[in-house]
Order: sequence, then C-alpha cells, then structure tokens
Amino acid sequence: MATKPAFDTASIHAGQVPDPKELSRGVAIHRTTSYVFKNTEHAANLFGLKEFGNIYTRLGNPTTAILEERITALEGGAASVAVASGTSAIFYTVITIAKQGDHIVSASNLYGGTYTQFDAILPDFGITTTFVDVTKPQEFEKAIKPNTKLLYLETMGNPALDVPDFEAISKIAKKHKLPLVVDATFTTPALLKTIDHGANIVINSLTKWIGGHGTAIGGIVTDAGNFDWSDPKFEHFTKPDKNYHGLRWALDLHDSLKPIAFALRFRTVPLRNLGASLSPDSSWIFLQGLETLSLRMAKHVENTRKVAEWLAKHKKVSWVRYPGLKSDPTYSVANKYLKKGFGGVVVFGVKSGREGGSKFIDNLKLFSHLANVGDAKSLALHPASTSHSQLSEAQQKAGGLSPELVRLSIGLEDIDDLLADLEQALSLT
Ligand SMILES: Cc1ncc(COP(=O)(O)O)c(C=O)c1O
Repeated sequence: MATKPAFDTASIHAGQVPDPKELSRGVAIHRTTSYVFKNTEHAANLFGLKEFGNIYTRLGNPTTAILEERITALEGGAASVAVASGTSAIFYTVITIAKQGDHIVSASNLYGGTYTQFDAILPDFGITTTFVDVTKPQEFEKAIKPNTKLLYLETMGNPALDVPDFEAISKIAKKHKLPLVVDATFTTPALLKTIDHGANIVINSLTKWIGGHGTAIGGIVTDAGNFDWSDPKFEHFTKPDKNYHGLRWALDLHDSLKPIAFALRFRTVPLRNLGASLSPDSSWIFLQGLETLSLRMAKHVENTRKVAEWLAKHKKVSWVRYPGLKSDPTYSVANKYLKKGFGGVVVFGVKSGREGGSKFIDNLKLFSHLANVGDAKSLALHPASTSHSQLSEAQQKAGGLSPELVRLSIGLEDIDDLLADLEQALSLT
C-alpha cells in the first residue's frame, strides 16, 4: 500500500487494525465509562499528559478514537476531537480560542443555530461577533479589530449556498495572524479538503452526510496543525491555563505536540469540563457512514444537479440557487474549489411565494418534511419558519434567506421518482 492511502482507502481503513486479541474485523463498540489504571504512577502520568491513554469516556474512547483518526486522515489534518453534536463542536472551538472581551468575524450566511450561538449566546460570555457578506472577502478584513481572535465561515452557506473564496479569506487570516475556522458540513472532506485552501480548524457536523442516514447526532473538529498559537494575543495558549495545571499550551508543550495545541486544549478544557462527549455507539454509526461516504456523495451530487436543472426550467419556479448551476452567482468560485461536485442541497422559490412554498411542502409524498440535511432519504424544509426562525427578517435577508425559500436535501432515491414527487407537489402551487 502507498504510504499515504488515497481517500477511499482511508475512509474504510484509517485508524483501525483488526483487533489483535479477538481478531474482529469490524470496529468494536467500547461501551465503557472508564478504564483500569495499571498502577498509581500510570494514573498520574495519564492525568498529567505525560502518557496518552484512556481515562474516562467523556475525554476519549477507543471506538471514538478510530473515528477521530479517520476524519483526521480524510481532512488531511493533524488531530481531531469528536463531540456530541456539530453545535457543541462549534461552541467548544470558539471557547478553546476566545475569552471574555474577544471578537469573531463571521460570514452572515450560517446555519441558524450557529447564528444564534454567535449573535445571542456568546455575548453573554463577553464574546461578540461581526457578521459580514461571505462573497466579499474584503469585508472580513475591514471587520477585524485588535481583539479579533478568529474568522469563521461555512463551506456552503446554509441555506443560501454561497461558496466562499477560501484562499482570498485565508490570505486575510494569515496576514492578521488569525485562525480560519471552517464549518465543512455541507461539503464533507469527500467534496472539499479546506485545509488545502488555508483552513486552520475544520468542523463537521457528523449528523449530516458523514453519518448519512439520519440516525445519530455528532460533531467533530479537526486541527490542521498549521497554526502558531504563540502570539501573546492568544491568552488561552500563552498565559498559564488555570483550567489545566497552569500549562501554557503554545509554549510549554513538547515541540512535537505544539502543532496540535488547539486539539489538546479542546479535549482537555471544554470537552473534559463541560462534557458534551460522543457516545461510542454513535461513533460506530459514523464509522459505518464513512465507509461509503464518497460513493454516497457522488450520487447525492448527481441527483441534486439533476433536480436543480429540472427546477430551473420549471414554469412554477421563480428562482433556484445551486452552486453547480452556471447561472448561480457563486458558480465561478464554486467551480474553482468543488472539483468533485456541488453538494446535495438545492434551494428555490415558487412563483406563488411563501404560501405556494408551504403548499408545495405539504403535498410532498416521497420527500420527508423535517429539519435535517444529508440523509439517504430526500428531505424538504421551509427554513424561515423553522431552522432560521430565531433570526430577524433583516438577519435572514443578510444571510440570503428569503421568506419563500424552500430547501431540499436530495437523497439517494431514483431520480425519476424524485422528479415525479416534485412535479405533483409543484402542480398544486
Ligand atoms: C452547516 C451546519 N453546521 C452545524 C450544524 C449543527 O450540527 P448538529 O445538528 O450536529 O448539532 C448544522 C445543523 O443543521 C449545519 O447545517
């Protein structure tokens, strides 16, 4: 085998060798809370980070460790930490880096829950956010202040599906010595490896295409290992950390660990002490999903492109957004980065407006009306009244969310059956 296995090989093998004792080929689920210490010295070494090993499943678990290693390989990163949801992965990422008095510059077109976290919850912790238009990289630079600690964006803004110019924004991040944090949920590493385009931290909600079947909630963060945290402005990394034996993460760790200072602090401070740990049963589900990720993504992409092209020609449809349509405002940027396809979500508006959109959703038969994306089953949602309903009208507009927007997550069913369902529901609008 080549020294570095290709994506499809890593998605099946990375992080796992058959169990040497039981010879089990499948990944074992380690349903345990804790692990026996060999002696008191072993216990003290594990707690003191002098030795790596299992202590307690809130901090790490052998089944979850395989998932973490596999995602690290697929993203091309240095270390990953899995948590109980994509949402907790985002929150823990922010508080691993930022503290009271700090500031974030973020794209405005975010998943509604992330927007609320940044806009309404983080201010309670003294962390504020300036939201900018992701299609205008210079807006990120203009919004940077002396207390800014990270730049944040999604690979395909949920729900308007704008694709950012990653390299232009990463150039700004580098110039200002700030980490670029990317939520890659909508593309997964099968369609885009954002670390190749300058991301420092990559977040994936495992709940969506990686799990792929709508059966488990989880999130994971990958440290690219390419950011130097030793600038004094990153106080969590350069001042003695009260949360962990007064360790200065960017300065005191062994040189071999300094590149993954973020991942180590993420696991040892928020995950350990706030506790949103991933169940090993869910880790197993996500590992099953990963084995077929690129096969499934190719079919999601093919079906979604066909649906988008079909909708674009439909007489009852007023507009369609899909980054793979040549007419789409972000097509040229998307085409630069998304060489393996433009994702599995399409959004559109019907000519009869919001009311028509509701009628359309209510009449779907094969599509399920629910709040998720990335399932093998096709899904539909009206974000303005559901996932993004906490946002004001102005905030929805800034994120590219119009009141009539209908979001479709296209599954793996036969395309003719999908188009037939869309046709009968549209005919009633
Ligand atoms: C882009 C994006 N990021 C993060 C999340 C949150 O993930 P989770 O539901 O696993 O908490 C979502 C959920 O829809 C999402 O769409």
